[in-house]
Amino acid sequence: MLTARNALLEMKAYHPPLRGRTGLRLDFNENLAGCSPRSLRALRAMNTDAVAAYPERDGVEAVTAEFLGLRHEQVLLTNGVDEAIHLVCEAYLEAGAEALIATPTFGMYEIYARQTGANVVQVQAGADLAFPVARFLAAITPRTRLVLIANPNNPTGQALAIADLERILLAAPDAAVLVDEAYFEFHGETMMPRLSDFPNLFVARTFSKAYGMAGLRVGALCGAAEQLGTLRKIVSAYNVNSAALACLPEALADAVFVADYVAEVVAGRERFCRELSGWGVVHWPSRGNFVLCRLADAPGELAGSSSGALVLALRQKGILIRDRNGDPGCAGCVRITIGTREQMNRLLVAMSSALAI
Ligand SMILES: Cc1ncc(COP(=O)(O)O)c(C=O)c1O
Repeated sequence: MLTARNALLEMKAYHPPLRGRTGLRLDFNENLAGCSPRSLRALRAMNTDAVAAYPERDGVEAVTAEFLGLRHEQVLLTNGVDEAIHLVCEAYLEAGAEALIATPTFGMYEIYARQTGANVVQVQAGADLAFPVARFLAAITPRTRLVLIANPNNPTGQALAIADLERILLAAPDAAVLVDEAYFEFHGETMMPRLSDFPNLFVARTFSKAYGMAGLRVGALCGAAEQLGTLRKIVSAYNVNSAALACLPEALADAVFVADYVAEVVAGRERFCRELSGWGVVHWPSRGNFVLCRLADAPGELAGSSSGALVLALRQKGILIRDRNGDPGCAGCVRITIGTREQMNRLLVAMSSALAI
């Protein structure tokens, strides 16, 4: 009988709740204002040749490197950050090696790391859900080949200080350290300028979140030229499709679109947290475009109910939010994406009525 590798047989299937996402989508941390109109124009201008020909990543990769203040050899465009994670797992992990993550975090780290046959060492955050720096440093061993850190983290929204990331990089000089900056634009701090100081550092950026292009699947993996040279050996030459390549330079050029949206989201995030505090709903400070709240001890009519009760109540009002009850340390929690001012008005009305506050 045909069987896949043991590492795959032991893995659980991962199905993000994607079906029928109509209404106000506050469940996947997307840009709720869409993408730059300049990107849409570029998409509409694609002709039959552009569709029929294999995509050429090189030119747009060079433009992206310049945008990021890096040399072309330091940047690899990927099929979303998902592919960047997949690539570093393939390049640095194997059976017997260890990947180190702090939980709760982005679910794809564990999936891509496990499929290599490596051991995934998980360091659980405490009740404050802050990154457990001291215990994480203590978990680094000579077998640690890959360290995966989302900064800011999903689903907690919490960020690590640059100084703590540097301590981790210094403590694991023989491991690849991927700092996943998928939510960088909403946070504002980056490890990008430190690439020249740490040959084991990788920084990932996505165009799925602030740039509003999740459907096109494009991200950037940045790192030492020598390491990226190795990754280029295994990446598909056509990993980023022609539509994404047509839109990306326009998206990068439209700095005003991204800056305006980020400012609206940051203001919406602060306002939402103030409302949650006023309602007595437990939540964690966020540096991303989302907020994690705990419903288990919510006030009002849903008091003591599960996170699923709020997910359901809001879905009936046409608003999707994400149940994070199953994430380690997140019992009774939901994660809510921050949208535009009008969308947040709608959420606040719906949520206060669902909670009957
Ligand atoms: C921390 C983190 N990294 C990566 C991703 C995936 O990004 P992409 O759409 O670029 O694959 C997500 C998406 O939710 C995320 O939260």
